[in-house]
Amino acid sequence: MRIAVVGTGYVGLVVGACLSENGNDVVCVDKDLGKIEMLRAGRMPIYEPGLEEMVRRNHQEERLAFTDDLPGAVRDSDIVFIAVGTPQGEDGSADLRHVMGVAREIARAMNGYKVIVNKSTVPVGTAEKVREIVRRETTHPFSVVSNPEFLKQGAAVDDFMKPDRVVIGAEDPRAAELMVKLHQPFTRTGAPIMVMDCPSAELSKYASNAILATKISFMNEIANVCDLFGADVDRVRQAVGSDKRIGTSFLFPGVGYGGSCFPKDVKALTRFSSDKKYEFKILKAVDAVNEYQKRVLVSKIEAHFGKSLKGKTIAIWGLAFKPKTDDMREAPAIPIIEALLAKGAKVQAYDPEAMKVAKGIFGSKITYSTKNYDALKNADALAVVTEWQEFREPDFARIKKLMRTPVIFDGRNIYQPEQMKALGFTYTSIGR
Ligand SMILES: NC(=O)c1ccc[n+]([C@@H]2O[C@H](COP(=O)([O-])OP(=O)(O)OC[C@H]3O[C@@H](n4cnc5c(N)ncnc54)[C@H](O)[C@@H]3O)[C@@H](O)[C@H]2O)c1
Repeated sequence: MRIAVVGTGYVGLVVGACLSENGNDVVCVDKDLGKIEMLRAGRMPIYEPGLEEMVRRNHQEERLAFTDDLPGAVRDSDIVFIAVGTPQGEDGSADLRHVMGVAREIARAMNGYKVIVNKSTVPVGTAEKVREIVRRETTHPFSVVSNPEFLKQGAAVDDFMKPDRVVIGAEDPRAAELMVKLHQPFTRTGAPIMVMDCPSAELSKYASNAILATKISFMNEIANVCDLFGADVDRVRQAVGSDKRIGTSFLFPGVGYGGSCFPKDVKALTRFSSDKKYEFKILKAVDAVNEYQKRVLVSKIEAHFGKSLKGKTIAIWGLAFKPKTDDMREAPAIPIIEALLAKGAKVQAYDPEAMKVAKGIFGSKITYSTKNYDALKNADALAVVTEWQEFREPDFARIKKLMRTPVIFDGRNIYQPEQMKALGFTYTSIGR
């Protein structure tokens, strides 16, 4: 099939690469010419495991192209994906400016029947709005499909190639059939392709992210209660997770969720529900708990050193909002570092992939280490903020030697309290 993907970000580039991997002809479109030129030159604008190799191979084999010429890409395609950002608007709603702008541009470029696919996460009713915009701009036939994306950054290629399910919202059987055919090669192991109405497809995405965010905030509150009563959240988590109705995933407490999806999607679902006069009470609490949780590690640091951190150097391990990505959108590391700086601390940070992004956020306000152990030199404490694999089993003797005082604040519970005590560290984690 001939496919255009508009928006070459964390989602669009993965979608484009994976569809081309199956033999489709794909052109990825972005208005950011810098990104397009990088990709044409074989360089990656983002870090995502396994993506670079797939992009390079399909580009070389001429199944995957990059352009900033949206009209040209639309004319040459049968299916056009919209995968642009839907950031949080000022009132918490999803900002649909990019989606609507792209829909209009697609409509103006049409030269025959096109299937226009909403891949971006968009509020219920957006497919209908896109339909109206396109109808206004063209006399050519078209269908609008809602095809929300469930991939996880850090495992995006795998998730797209082997999805748990594919959701297709389509009112038009011809478009639904085409979308099913496009996705069949990805679901040979039996994952369901679910065809439904557009509003249900749109809501499925928000409901999935919202329940995952709810699990995280819920366990963060359980961890906070563990701290108050001297219970061990690891034990509680294992006991709770072994109930098959609950499951073991997303029960790890920490410093709050971040990223470009959960925070904005929780707020957007709350917001568009309230547009219909429905108060989504649980999600308001999920969001409030998350805001609170982002301050928990700093409170623990304060409890140890006192309110002022003047003269203290804090090493930070992990800046990305989660491991295996360079993405720092809404990363808990940002408010944590800002709070430490406001209290007068000096911050030395290290992340395996997010250093470039971090420099754009903090500039010269913090120092950046090129190796994980370098960040520890003369530090009064280490704060673990992202649970990258390389932090899990470090050389503790080396850490102790490098630091001014052996103090660790573990925001991801990756070390064992008994072991840390035996090694002579002052160790604080979440809910243990
Ligand atoms: N990041 C994730 O893990 C993830 C997962 C599932 C769904 N989503 C959803 O997918 C959508 C995209 O997310 P993302 O993380 O890929 O965003 P992103 O910011 O990484 O990428 C968006 C891209 O769209 C481009 N763009 C914006 N306006 C454009 C226009 N008019 N013409 C051409 N290109 C344009 C931007 O330059 C950017 O490169 C969002 O709705 C998001 O909620 C994201």
